[in-house]
Amino acid sequence: MYQIVSKKTLAPAIHEYEILAPKVAKKARAGQFVILRVDEDGERIPLTIADYNREAGTITVVFAEAGYSTGKLGKLEAGDAVQDFVGPLGVPSHVDKFGKVVMVAGGVGVAPVFPIARAMKAAGNHVVGIMGARSKDLIFWEQRMQEVCHQLLVTTDDGSYVRKGFVTDVLRQYIEEAGRPDLVMAIGPLPMMRAVADLTREYGIKTMVSLNSIMVDGTGMCGACRVTVGGETKFVCVDGPEFDGHLVDFAEQLMRSRKYKAEEQLALNRAGCGCGGGGKCHG
Ligand SMILES: Cc1cc2nc3c(=O)[nH]c(=O)nc-3n(C[C@H](O)[C@H](O)[C@H](O)COP(=O)(O)OP(=O)(O)OC[C@H]3O[C@@H](n4cnc5c(N)ncnc54)[C@H](O)[C@@H]3O)c2cc1C
Ligand code: FES
Repeated sequence: MYQIVSKKTLAPAIHEYEILAPKVAKKARAGQFVILRVDEDGERIPLTIADYNREAGTITVVFAEAGYSTGKLGKLEAGDAVQDFVGPLGVPSHVDKFGKVVMVAGGVGVAPVFPIARAMKAAGNHVVGIMGARSKDLIFWEQRMQEVCHQLLVTTDDGSYVRKGFVTDVLRQYIEEAGRPDLVMAIGPLPMMRAVADLTREYGIKTMVSLNSIMVDGTGMCGACRVTVGGETKFVCVDGPEFDGHLVDFAEQLMRSRKYKAEEQLALNRAGCGCGGGGKCHG
């Protein structure tokens, strides 16, 4: 069992857990993820490593209650434990001295962006952060991002905080005013990452995205996380999760991410009200 050392609720249905997992913490690097199960009957939930503390032996994960399993996870408190916690999985982010790097975070994507931005800054890059959320109450880790970015631009879809607009509006304005960065990295919902990749293609800027495809085993055996990149089949769990955004077949990814919608709704309905399904439960 893996104990939850601390819990913070960062925004409605978005939680930060620090989990005691010394062996995972020892090897964790920016860009990797874990797969956990809440209990013996639990579904396997992949979550990005948002931070790690090798001395304390802890891993920080930040997750949104997206459905039944993350709803169940969100009900746990500090002192509780999760059944399994496997990792670190996936290929770490390629961190190098690129020059000027723009890190674009959408929604919960700010959590996985944070350790990569920190590593990019430590490698000597000029790091510009762009973080966006639907509204002010969904903004979190702004202070943490300030610490790892030379410049941080915040936006909300509804204009309830700082400025109104999508992260792509801010990115375009930044490129037009400050010039082309050497690398853009985007993490967030699939449509947002696709929009960022479409924009940077216009300017010829290398762009990496971190895919959150549906996963089962996380070891390259089951094929659930299959993605087409540059015409080749890749597995997000072992070849990724980061890929060249200009080569990813986003249409296929979007279609695959919706494949189990009926089963996901059924799981919420069966659980009934009070399942913690991020406000999606109508059971
Ligand atoms: C490498 C990776 C890293 C991720 N990191 C984070 C993170 O840091 N924070 C966060 O909030 N979410 C993250 N996710 C997404 C998270 O795993 C899903 O939200 C979660 O599994 C949903 O399960 P559910 O039963 O609560 O919801 P469901 O109702 O089953 O599904 C809700 C949504 O999650 C997707 N989903 C369902 N099962 C999986 C699965 N096994 N793998 C991936 N997606 C799934 C569905 O397509 C659907 O869009 C990550 C996914 C991957 C693959
Ligand atoms: S999750 Fe099974 S191959 Fe990637």
